[in-house]
Amino acid sequence: MTSVQTVTQPTVLVIDDEAGPRDALKVILRPFFKIRSAENAQSALDVLRNEPIDIITLDQRLPDRHGLDLLHEIKHEHPDVEVVIVTGYGSLKSAMESIRQGATGYLLKPFNVNELITLAQQTMDKKRRLDFLRRSLRSSRELWGLGEENARSWDTLKSEYLTLYLNARGNAVLPQEEMSLVPLLSDILEATDRHLLNHSSRVSFYATLMAARLDLTIAQQKSLAMGAFLHDIGKTSFPAYRFSEDQVLPSGEPIVCREHCERGARAATTLGLPKEVHDIIAYHHERWNGQGYPHGVSGPDIPVLARIVGIAQAFDHLTADAPGRSCLSTETAIQQIALNSGTHFDPQLLEIFLDVVKDSAVSLPTMAVVPAA
Ligand SMILES: [Fe+2]
Repeated sequence: MTSVQTVTQPTVLVIDDEAGPRDALKVILRPFFKIRSAENAQSALDVLRNEPIDIITLDQRLPDRHGLDLLHEIKHEHPDVEVVIVTGYGSLKSAMESIRQGATGYLLKPFNVNELITLAQQTMDKKRRLDFLRRSLRSSRELWGLGEENARSWDTLKSEYLTLYLNARGNAVLPQEEMSLVPLLSDILEATDRHLLNHSSRVSFYATLMAARLDLTIAQQKSLAMGAFLHDIGKTSFPAYRFSEDQVLPSGEPIVCREHCERGARAATTLGLPKEVHDIIAYHHERWNGQGYPHGVSGPDIPVLARIVGIAQAFDHLTADAPGRSCLSTETAIQQIALNSGTHFDPQLLEIFLDVVKDSAVSLPTMAVVPAA
């Protein structure tokens, strides 16, 4: 297991074509960061290729490229560099698009100095957590193995992560909800691929919408939300995994390494999560007709919460907007998934799911739904 590394002064790259804001950002951030700056997209990319950069403040309007296009390229080429958008032309739409493209935060000019410093420090804290997890995921195969080594590795990871998490908050006592595993597991998904985190969040959102239509206990609803969020956690065990490289069948089911179900389910048990969460992870690729994997069980033998997540993840794989992937409109995705009712998917649950999607089309997260071309 990689240990928490000594913190050295990080480097921020300030990208802004106007001298005034650029100089202000440099002066304000200089006590906390080594400073590099660029006046346009091309020189920013040159700096990134030649020097280690930790975080970036990015102006949304540049002379040679729109800031969001540059953000897209930066997150593709340098996924471990965190970006804060600083703009004088803010809108809710552009803020949401920035976050969807991977920005950590969004700040309006003229900015409040304290807000800028806080956001820059929070962004750096996040980068330290994600870098630590990337190193840990690369170096600790035991996390996904069998036996005592597996439990010991998760204990070490949890305790080192918590140290980083608490240090960033001045060792404050954490609220109850932050004592849970959610921040760690969410960061593990993001450290692997932020598109995997976005997918996991959306699938959990869809599953929660389904829960409202079904007669589930509160405990089942909680397990459904958690299991949906973690259904692909096993994919984080593959160092080269990329969400955009998942091949997807016409039914929406991704063709991926089968071990991700077993590895993820084993981790859920090791982490002490409820059995229903384990079962969602273990069985979300089973099919109603028994031709799924890894167990080949069919019909009602597939745990009901796993059947729900199987449908939700298929719908999201069809509609998700990720680099290099073509995505379907909601209407086309509904038609395509409906073709597999009774073969791949539980027909009753699928009917409810498609009703939920149709009824909620207006309020579905814009991240999840791509308008018809
Ligand atoms: Fe999966």
